[in-house]
Amino acid sequence: MNPPIWTELINLVAAVAFILALKALSGPKTARLGNRVGAIGAIVATVVVFFAINNIQNVEIILIAMVVGSLLGYFAAKKVQMTQMPQMVALFNGAGGGAAMAVAVIEFLTGSIYTSPIALVATVLTIIIGGVAFTGSIVTFLKLQELMTSRPVIIPLGRFITIGVALANLALAGYLIVDPTAWAMWTLSVLALVLGILFVLPVGGADVPIVISLLNAFTGLSVAGMGYVLENVLLLVGGTLVGASGTLLTRLMAQAMGRPLTNTLFGAFTKTAQKISNSQEDRSVKSAQPNDIGIMLAYASRVIIVPGYGLAVAQAQQSLRELVDLLMSKGIEVQYAIHPVAGRMPGHMNVLLAEADVPYDQLKEMDEINSEFASTDVAVVVGANDVVNPAARTDADSPIYGMPILNVDQAEQVVFMKRSMRPGFAGIDNELLFNDKTTLLFGDAKDSLTKVIAAVKAI
Ligand code: TAP
Repeated sequence: MNPPIWTELINLVAAVAFILALKALSGPKTARLGNRVGAIGAIVATVVVFFAINNIQNVEIILIAMVVGSLLGYFAAKKVQMTQMPQMVALFNGAGGGAAMAVAVIEFLTGSIYTSPIALVATVLTIIIGGVAFTGSIVTFLKLQELMTSRPVIIPLGRFITIGVALANLALAGYLIVDPTAWAMWTLSVLALVLGILFVLPVGGADVPIVISLLNAFTGLSVAGMGYVLENVLLLVGGTLVGASGTLLTRLMAQAMGRPLTNTLFGAFTKTAQKISNSQEDRSVKSAQPNDIGIMLAYASRVIIVPGYGLAVAQAQQSLRELVDLLMSKGIEVQYAIHPVAGRMPGHMNVLLAEADVPYDQLKEMDEINSEFASTDVAVVVGANDVVNPAARTDADSPIYGMPILNVDQAEQVVFMKRSMRPGFAGIDNELLFNDKTTLLFGDAKDSLTKVIAAVKAI
């Protein structure tokens, strides 16, 4: 039976809300509004189901599941640190892929799909894509949460095993379309789950967030597939939007890191060993006290601040803003240089600095500011490392080779605020730390900034 026309109209409104939400999410000024519009669309889409279907079954179980899911989501979102956001996205994304797969399995077992060959194809594809998204997302979560190593896990003959499992998935999918039997469906389900694990294990370090975005696109596609099978236009539209935006985001991130996506996904299969640093700790560097940095900054005329992941860890955005305001009140020109992959998620630094009410016009994108480092007195790198590492330009063996970086090394003087000589997310040496023009201020970024503020005030 076709759903009543009024529910279709409401679904259309929800679909438009999703599209408007995506549009608004693309800029920091409108992102909050976009989030709310999208959430309202999702609530409307969920509630309308209860009125659209006459003989809805298992209402109690559905309501209990909704309450439990909503509470879990609410408290997880309240509690999560900004730096743990990618893990949380990975978990939620995995839940989406797993749910789409579960629905596909149930539809398969109840037999409602056998009437249409296209529905059967969509169901089989949803099992594969949803399964890969489910286990793949769980592995990315474990890596980012450091519950397992975040470095590439290379298993002997891994490439061949992965290709073999992928081919077995395709072969079984073909078989199922011709002869839809339960044993083949269960075998395919297990193989899809295994493929998700094999797919993500060799991805390491800095590349994990890109894979999360790709798996997000997979989840979107699996949900769209289920929308087709269930004849639910909203699932189809929502899933397609997630699939398309996830794919675009994946491409943008890979571009910002200066390498093809295939290199991100399959690089570890072909590289015998990544160049991971353990050596930096032994070499000598020039370090200073907060007072010295205060004097250096107070007598500069142009300063560029480079925020990175460590700023988020230290939750030092307010202190950073206070320092910048103080310097500007002394007539010093100060700007923030934002690298597209600074931090651990797209727009991480923009969100962080927006929390401290830093005016948007002080934030300069990499392309906009890179030519200005050469005429800058002091570049202050606060908790960043990989995004200023010149190895990306000079060392063809480096895992970040080719990634466009901020030209911090062109500034007259460079200050690094970090706690130790440990490398950044990519795990590689940074020669800039040993450069003559570089001074290190060791310590937690918030603590260091507070002391530098006091030093500048005292001048
Ligand atoms: P990282 O290279 O990860 O460097 C962060 C630095 O912060 C480290 O050197 C660390 O040194 C320091 N730090 C950590 N906690 C600190 C604290 N409490 N106080 C002071 N310093 C602290 O960060 P980045 O330069 O922002 O680069 C981002 C990385 O993530 C890149 O490799 C990028 O490719 C990757 N990535 C990002 C994204 C997105 S979309 N943002 C996506 C994929 C990959 P200490 O431990 O010595 O303090």
